[in-house]
Amino acid sequence: MSDAPARLQEIRVEAEAAIAAAGSAADLEQLRIAYLGRKAELTTMLRGIKDLPAEQRGPVGKGGNEVKRALEAQLAERVGALEAAELDERLRSDAVDVTLPGDPPQRPGHLHLITETRREIEDVFLGLGFAVAEGTEVEYDYYNFTALNHPPDHPARMLQDTFYLADEVLLRTHTSPMQIRAMELQEPPIYVIVPGKVYRRDHDATHTPMFHQIEGLAIDADITLADLQGVLLEFVRAIFGAEREIRLRPHYFPFTEPSVEVDVSCFKCGGNGYVADGSHCNLCKGSGWIEILGSGMVDPNVLGFVAGNGYDPAKVQGFAFGMGIERIAMLRHGVPDLRLFFDNDVRFLEQFGS
Ligand code: PHE
Repeated sequence: MSDAPARLQEIRVEAEAAIAAAGSAADLEQLRIAYLGRKAELTTMLRGIKDLPAEQRGPVGKGGNEVKRALEAQLAERVGALEAAELDERLRSDAVDVTLPGDPPQRPGHLHLITETRREIEDVFLGLGFAVAEGTEVEYDYYNFTALNHPPDHPARMLQDTFYLADEVLLRTHTSPMQIRAMELQEPPIYVIVPGKVYRRDHDATHTPMFHQIEGLAIDADITLADLQGVLLEFVRAIFGAEREIRLRPHYFPFTEPSVEVDVSCFKCGGNGYVADGSHCNLCKGSGWIEILGSGMVDPNVLGFVAGNGYDPAKVQGFAFGMGIERIAMLRHGVPDLRLFFDNDVRFLEQFGS
């Protein structure tokens, strides 16, 4: 054997150059086999140490193992670097920019103004501790009228106002039947609001055969008209602005006693009734007030229909209110014609919603 230590250095230089130049994990594996495998020259040299002249055994054994460890370390480092580079490249080429518009570009949609208004109103009452319930649109005469204290000959029962589906079965004309159903389902105390569609035989600029209401019902011990006033003031300020006031006017509903209609101070003229140039405010028609809903203290006769479920009029009482969602939306956004909500002309709908 000529100069084994010198040969070791040649192998090292050659192997290191080849490893440094390798471009893939597969190439590196080939080099590992070539330089460190069972049949590699280095392996053979290390295995043949015992046949070397005595003075070469030490340097070749020590140097050979050094070269072996150096090459193993370099291989491991190169494999790691290549894998990282390959991962980087894959991430780059597979990357999807989810913020790019679709192809073809999609027009972003948004909620219908009525849905948005309904949700805003719900949020206000949820914040005041009311739960949200929903009822059926097809309803019995009993819940729509009778249990709400309508006498048998009440004009609202007449065919020209109500859509009848069968004897005693109709499309509910208001969300108030859910007052009765909610009280049948839950003992007092109850604090509930009921959004939903209602139906009446009407069709003009301020009436459509279908529209939306939100009913409110609160029954507990010691509820007074002052509680109704406080709740509605909160509601009105949340929806129409912190400066608003409310006014309760005597009215009549069969199912509340006393009944009141609630007005909000005009949010266009601030309640003055006239605008900057001295002319009458066209929103409140110069009165300073705008009617927004009907309400009152629940009539004891109504509680009488659910007295068996804990609504003894001698022990509990409460208030109810009902408002038209379209009316609230029209007032807030200056929409002149109720029918616009249901024509579904996007030129109208696109002006609202977020
Ligand atoms: N249901 C009545 C209507 O549709 C509104 C209302 C609800 C009035 C609750 C009083 C109490 O006009």
